[in-house]
Amino acid sequence: MDTFRIAVMIGSLRQDSLNRKLALALAGMAPPEFKFHHCRIDDLPPYNQDDDGRPPEPVRRLKTEIADAQGVLFVTPEYNRSIPGVLKNAIDHASRPYGQSAWAGKPAGVIGVSVGSIGTAMAQQHLRNILAYLDMPTLGQPEAFIANREGLFDDKGHVGLDDSRRFLQTWMDRYTAWVRDHAKM
Ligand code: FNR
Repeated sequence: MDTFRIAVMIGSLRQDSLNRKLALALAGMAPPEFKFHHCRIDDLPPYNQDDDGRPPEPVRRLKTEIADAQGVLFVTPEYNRSIPGVLKNAIDHASRPYGQSAWAGKPAGVIGVSVGSIGTAMAQQHLRNILAYLDMPTLGQPEAFIANREGLFDDKGHVGLDDSRRFLQTWMDRYTAWVRDHAKM
């Protein structure tokens, strides 16, 4: 049985992050051959092109994690109608030096939860723009804009609402099939 490693990029550093909960819940909905690794981004320095020739250890670690993955899953909140700066910083780091991007060709999924009613739609659109430039094939449908509601996550971290659980399972089935298809290419 082939194993598929998924590098998970969570756009929030917050201890009680809804997006981290969503990432954990999604991993529990995937087939067993899918292994999810949450990439650490809180110890990356602010990106500075002067350091391209000698990237610090956390940057090398992140690039190795991306390189070793068969797919990337972005789970991010929306900050001021875009993606959080910490996520953009991580994306920039792993895209450099020029010609040595870790992202190129990796199939990506984009999803997020926010307290706002549009459920990270603007952030996802900005992220899709970036991923297109980075040459990452990105799952188009179904789109998943999750607005937080009472009971979305239960105390065990599972999705507590039936309609949300069904929708997220469908999304995850499509995402894992998408990664499998790309692994065959
Ligand atoms: C937000 N939040 C937010 N929500 C939204 O729907 N659209 C937005 O543009 C913003 N902007 C924004 C900016 C900043 C700086 C913060 C801190 C928050 C609210 C956001 O959805 C909420 O804090 C989520 O809980 C963040 O996700 P995590 O940390 O729970 O994963």
